[in-house]
Amino acid sequence: MRRCILITGGAGFIGSHVVRLFVNKYPEYDIINLDKLTYAGNLANLKDIEDRPNYSFVKADIADFDTVYALMKERKVDGVIHLAAESHVDRSIKDPFTFARTNVIGTLSLLQAARLYWEECAAEEGAPRRLFYHISTDEVYGSLQMDSPLFKETNKYEPHSPYSASKASSDHFVRSFHDTYGLPTIVTNCSNNYGPYQFPEKLLPLMISNIRDGKNLPVYGKGDNIRDWIYVEDHNRAVWLIVNKGITGEKYNIGGENEWQNIKLLHKVIELTAAATGKSVDEVEKTITYVKDRPGHDKRYAIDCTKIKTKLGWERKMTFEEGLQETVKWYLKNSEWINNILNGNYKQWVEKNYSNR
Ligand code: NAD
Ligand code: DAU
Repeated sequence: MRRCILITGGAGFIGSHVVRLFVNKYPEYDIINLDKLTYAGNLANLKDIEDRPNYSFVKADIADFDTVYALMKERKVDGVIHLAAESHVDRSIKDPFTFARTNVIGTLSLLQAARLYWEECAAEEGAPRRLFYHISTDEVYGSLQMDSPLFKETNKYEPHSPYSASKASSDHFVRSFHDTYGLPTIVTNCSNNYGPYQFPEKLLPLMISNIRDGKNLPVYGKGDNIRDWIYVEDHNRAVWLIVNKGITGEKYNIGGENEWQNIKLLHKVIELTAAATGKSVDEVEKTITYVKDRPGHDKRYAIDCTKIKTKLGWERKMTFEEGLQETVKWYLKNSEWINNILNGNYKQWVEKNYSNR
């Protein structure tokens, strides 16, 4: 039986890496990328694989239950890797409803569609392993003090932003579908990803593009908040391991074991970007601008990923030194990719091809 994996949010940052990996690794599978193409969805992220025979794109909203259910049935989906979400904390502060709609109702709609469809065909002979894999964030655990132990899978949830509250809620719905209906689910909670194709509203691509353009570098509060950074391809390898070896009903933390204070990270990015563009480090440093802090700004995130390392044999491969260097190089080399986002041209292809749907 030909397998079919539905990846949601595949036109976004992490999703595009996941789609590329599965399309390349499994030419014999159908890989569907379902994405609403919000401001964060960019099909240019997938140009290199868009013509592959095992890849197809569906423009749809995960919260549209009828469409999602019909698609699962028609294409005989047996695996879901769910990444579609509103992902930016600052936007969630301005517009929490959109976050609840996509992250909570959208996840519920996918869960219900998978449950109903898989229940209908449960008796089919030779049915492949079914999996509903929900990709989530470390932000659900709240904020750490400097001397607190790292986030473990067993930590209680304590979200502070509307974004993390919506992701926490979606994680709870996923667990409830496992415990109530026996849906084969897995949840992973990952720390801050960095690497190519990240939308330039997030810290690293924003800073690199602002340095390139000679713009100010806005640092929230004192710049002393701490994040744990993981290279997107290291996260991606963990996703692959989960799909192949993860135990349903479980949750796994994924992290970079790589904590950085925002301001120290920014100095490092300035050093690398200035060197690559021939700018003076001292001049770029002068563009650092301390701005009003993000409300409810979590102080520190840091992940204990012992479980995925010991149970599934996952290891981080990319050193931060190398990963950051590669990332700076990628954004400078792919200036057009950023420019098309900054001037809005990245939406033209979609408008031309999908305006009547
Ligand atoms: P992103 O914002 O770059 O991409 C999100 C994608 O989802 C976009 O392509 C967008 O068009 C699509 N989408 C949004 N609403 C939709 C809807 N209603 N229906 C269908 N598609 C919709 O996000 P990202 O940074 O790649 O994050 C992907 C997932 O990983 C999210 O679930 C996020 O919570 C989680 N995550 C992200 C990070 C990180 O550091 N970026 C870390 C841990 C977990
Ligand atoms: O921890 C995982 C999470 O990481 C994901 O779930 C989210 O989807 C992802 O967006 C990211 O959330 P953060 O809020 O940590 O990422 P962001 O890039 O927005 O900010 C990183 C840190 O930098 C944070 O402490 C806020 C700060 N910051 C951010 C921006 C955009 C600034 O100081 N200035 C800025 O302009």
